[in-house]
Amino acid sequence: MSRFKDDFIFGTATSSYQIEGAYNQGGRSLSIWDTFSKTPGNVWNGDDGDVACDHYNRYKKDVQLIKELGVESYRFSIAWPRIFPQEGVYNEEGMVFYRSLIQELKKAGIKPMATLYHWDLPMWAYEKGGWVNRESVNWFLDFAEVCFKELDQDVEAWITHNEPWCASFLSYHAGHHAPGHRNMDEGLKAAHHILLSHGKAVQLFKNELSLTTPIGITLNLSPAYAATDSENDKLAQNNADGYVNRWFLDPIFKGAYPVDMMNLFSKHVHDFDFIQSGDLDAISVECDFFGINYYNRALVKFAGNENLLYISAHSEYKKTGMGWDVSPQEFKELIYRLRKEYTDLPIFITENGAAYDDVLESDGSVHDGERVAYVEAHLKMVHELCEEGMNIAGYFLWSLFDNFEWAFGYEKRFGIFYVDFETQVRYWKDSAKRYKEIVETRSLTE
Ligand code: NOJ
Repeated sequence: MSRFKDDFIFGTATSSYQIEGAYNQGGRSLSIWDTFSKTPGNVWNGDDGDVACDHYNRYKKDVQLIKELGVESYRFSIAWPRIFPQEGVYNEEGMVFYRSLIQELKKAGIKPMATLYHWDLPMWAYEKGGWVNRESVNWFLDFAEVCFKELDQDVEAWITHNEPWCASFLSYHAGHHAPGHRNMDEGLKAAHHILLSHGKAVQLFKNELSLTTPIGITLNLSPAYAATDSENDKLAQNNADGYVNRWFLDPIFKGAYPVDMMNLFSKHVHDFDFIQSGDLDAISVECDFFGINYYNRALVKFAGNENLLYISAHSEYKKTGMGWDVSPQEFKELIYRLRKEYTDLPIFITENGAAYDDVLESDGSVHDGERVAYVEAHLKMVHELCEEGMNIAGYFLWSLFDNFEWAFGYEKRFGIFYVDFETQVRYWKDSAKRYKEIVETRSLTE
């Protein structure tokens, strides 16, 4: 009864800085995350991605594990500082790594889905202003072009950017992610340049290079709910939705920034001169699919002393190890809203998963029942959505491995494989075993 259709794609996902390690191998230069994580106080326990899962040196065995897991597709990202360690200096050795990884995946019958930017901006680009500098669009296009030319023949789907909200506001406005700036003006510019680089990369891909592989962008969407019915809390909800969701959805699908948010931002920033004529046409370029990373809903309340007039409110929902609300029903509502207000494109859930305090038992097992329940609950919604004609094309579980969870270092484990970071041994958690079963039977009930 609850079988997923044959063309539905089950996958798993990772990103370069979070798993590769080998920070100084193969001609790689430093990224903003190398520098940020080595600055005391930025990352839990002073952790960094120097070694991570050492995937750069272990990718062959890792691909075998993905094969054993039985998924049809694997989503990874390409480290920009491996490809262009310095401005305009191409590093073939970096490309060889991704070519080899992709070949290995193909041999194992796994479809490669490649993300171009998952936050590891080269330091050389940061030193010239990073995403705040409009030139970043051209630097990104150089990187994108060489990846498209070298790898497109074996890549099954391309994602230009992963979670632009994190790469802009969380990094340049809230300061929690690299480069750790706290400046709204910079956040807005970074967001705009990232979106513009997406649009221009898709234009390059389709119009200049005449490539036809599916290409899209991935947003992190978190539906906002008001703590009470008060008008103030509803405003808080509106602003949270505007900041995290609509500021990205509207330009991509409607070719315009939301006016209410422009008004709100204009109280705190100088001007919007960085938005030039033609930019929004480029940003709203037609893609082939839309990627969503979904983890949780947000519950918010009014806060008059905050720039955006809201803060998180206390919620009674069950929490993951990140303290995030387990909210599968809201995921379903989100998809309905997207279908109504934004797009008919096929949707890939490019990430969904949860961190919990896993315990490795002496016999090598990890009984992560909460993660199993989290994944099943969300997959149940995905299945219902498919049955209801909402066109969900695939689901990528975050993450294959426990890995470098950004500002939380190795403290938060999202993997379905447990990684012992001392020995680099990977262990099957119960969630990996259960996911394998779901993928094999294409069903949640059998
Ligand atoms: C989304 C990000 O893309 C990924 O890098 C991160 O690890 C997960 N969220 C979990 O926080």
